[in-house]
Amino acid sequence: AAEDGSAAWLRYAPVPHAANTSRITPSEIVALNSTKSSPVYTAGQELQRGIAGIFGRKLNVSAQASSALSTIVVGTLETFTDAYGDFDEAEDLEEDGFFLCATGDKVVIVGQNERGALYGAFEYLSRLAQGHISSVSFISNPSAPIRWTNEWDNLDGSIERGFAGPSIFFRNGFVVDNVTRVAEYARLLASIRINGIIINNVNADVQVLSARNIEGLARLADVMRPYGVQLGISLNFASPEDFGKLNSYDPLDPKVDAWWANVTNQIYAKVPDMAGYLVKANSEGQAGPLTYNRTLADGANMFARAVEPYGGVVMFRAFVYDNHINETDWKADRANAQLEFFQNLDGKFNDNVVVQIKYGPIDFQVREPASPLFSALHHTNTAIELQITQEYLGQQCHLVYLAPLWKEILEFDLRADGRPSKVKDIVSSERFNRPLGGYAGVVNVGTNSTWLGSHLAMSNLYAYGRLAWDPSLESEAILQDWIRLTFGFDQKVLNTITDMSMKSWPAYENYSGNLGIQTLTDITYTHFGPNPASQDNNGWGQWTRADKFSIGMDRTVNNGTGNAGNYPPEIANMYENIETTPDNLLLWFHHVPYTQRLKSGKTVIQHFYDAHYEGSAVAQTFVKQWESLKGKVDMERYEHVLFRQVFQAGHSLVWRDSINEFYHNLSEIPDDLRRVGNH
Ligand code: GCU
Repeated sequence: AAEDGSAAWLRYAPVPHAANTSRITPSEIVALNSTKSSPVYTAGQELQRGIAGIFGRKLNVSAQASSALSTIVVGTLETFTDAYGDFDEAEDLEEDGFFLCATGDKVVIVGQNERGALYGAFEYLSRLAQGHISSVSFISNPSAPIRWTNEWDNLDGSIERGFAGPSIFFRNGFVVDNVTRVAEYARLLASIRINGIIINNVNADVQVLSARNIEGLARLADVMRPYGVQLGISLNFASPEDFGKLNSYDPLDPKVDAWWANVTNQIYAKVPDMAGYLVKANSEGQAGPLTYNRTLADGANMFARAVEPYGGVVMFRAFVYDNHINETDWKADRANAQLEFFQNLDGKFNDNVVVQIKYGPIDFQVREPASPLFSALHHTNTAIELQITQEYLGQQCHLVYLAPLWKEILEFDLRADGRPSKVKDIVSSERFNRPLGGYAGVVNVGTNSTWLGSHLAMSNLYAYGRLAWDPSLESEAILQDWIRLTFGFDQKVLNTITDMSMKSWPAYENYSGNLGIQTLTDITYTHFGPNPASQDNNGWGQWTRADKFSIGMDRTVNNGTGNAGNYPPEIANMYENIETTPDNLLLWFHHVPYTQRLKSGKTVIQHFYDAHYEGSAVAQTFVKQWESLKGKVDMERYEHVLFRQVFQAGHSLVWRDSINEFYHNLSEIPDDLRRVGNH
């Protein structure tokens, strides 16, 4: 059958040999004491829908405990123990966690809370849909309490860095009337255990606070609530002036404080369970507290005070930098901005503020070291910001499976105070023993039926949720769950998509910007396609400092911007020295001649030439690989993906030749294999 992709990984397609396995399926579903807006009710409905799809059997759902043997019981810790008594595992359940015990046709799903019950139901269904019917009994708890998406949707319905059509949340200045798609999105997110969505652009429009929009937020929250997904909004720091008609937005002015408290009360009156606020301040032209000589913490805490009575959270972005820095200053470095702005504020943020840090010091580039800010804030809650939408990474026209990139950052050990300090353990709040922490993923889904504009890009959204729950999972294992759920059981389909996806990030890095050059993507506006000249001679600070003889940013303490010294000593020493800096970050930390030898023995320039050929050659193979699946994937999805792969193959050649010719012209160093410069 043709599939438009809207079901994503929740297809509940019949499993092979369903007839043989259906004898183990229970005959009834009990969703304990649930009312319609409860995620437990949703869990009951979802189990019914899933089992109907997978096994072709429609089970009844009842809200009352039953003594029937062959049942799926789903409930919260409280409702379950009321009905059936205590059980041993109960004490190990943490917030949002669940217990799943399935033996034959007896299934017990207990959530620590209602949301956890729904997560357990989705987990059970995911197992059935992948053909796993063996008995299981386990507890699963989240790594971190904050597992949110950020959507950069504008009120006019456009989406900043969105590649899948207009917004599902807004249209013509207001929240949409038809919220069906929002409910579907919440369902998708709940299935990967995401518990919050910030629905509007970080470059926030003050009109999100209009009375009509606040009514709209309530409607959105109403359809998200049954999925345990809380709604939050981005705020514009200047709202008191630009929307409220005060003459100031100074965070320490009592009028301003009272204004925000009042607005917040109005929103919570309509959305009593709002997750909180996201704030981008003093960044890229956005207003902020620095205008009034107040600190960023003063700014964040103002919002924190407003949401505190409601249990709300303020995500305050660390993406603060000056975009007018001077390249003639060898020591100027945008990568230092996060530490400059935030280090001295450690411990000054209220307990319900979370500083949201992009994974690297610059901006979602194909390769960055982990942001040193993660290791610098010991008394501040932090979250990592990842980007599912492929802004610099091919904008969903290129296949780039991102879990391996994220894993590299999450597993990176920053060695704060000489102790194990993996990024994943910092943002989980464990390492520095903080009350809050977690994950923010910029998704930017649109109205396109595929959600992200590309079927294969959905592995990134799926992996994001899985990793936010459990960052120690392996990229390939997550990917294969997604493939089975999305494309079924064919072994060749599984092997082929696995192979393509796992090769995709290295390939993209090779033909776009390798050796830690950060990006060679056009940064002037589109952020798409090659434009190596666009990095330099402007104030954005994404410089390569390439000249006729040499390339790279000298970020050493000894002779450069000092950025390497932002890391704890063991890591700082590693990056300070060329010998110990990994090749893939060489040009991030060092300015070297094109003739510099890498650990591989190749020169930098020859590596450039070769890697661009290798990466683009891999992209050519994706077409052939995908074509080998003809007949094994429905035509609609087959054709759609093929179109993307053909584009990527061609565009990778454009990348290869533009970058290679650019550096060949600049350096005049011939390619050993005489491929470059032959036109
Ligand atoms: C990038 C992106 C912008 C976005 C900004 C941010 O610079 O290109 O569109 O607003 O990041 O994360 O705030």
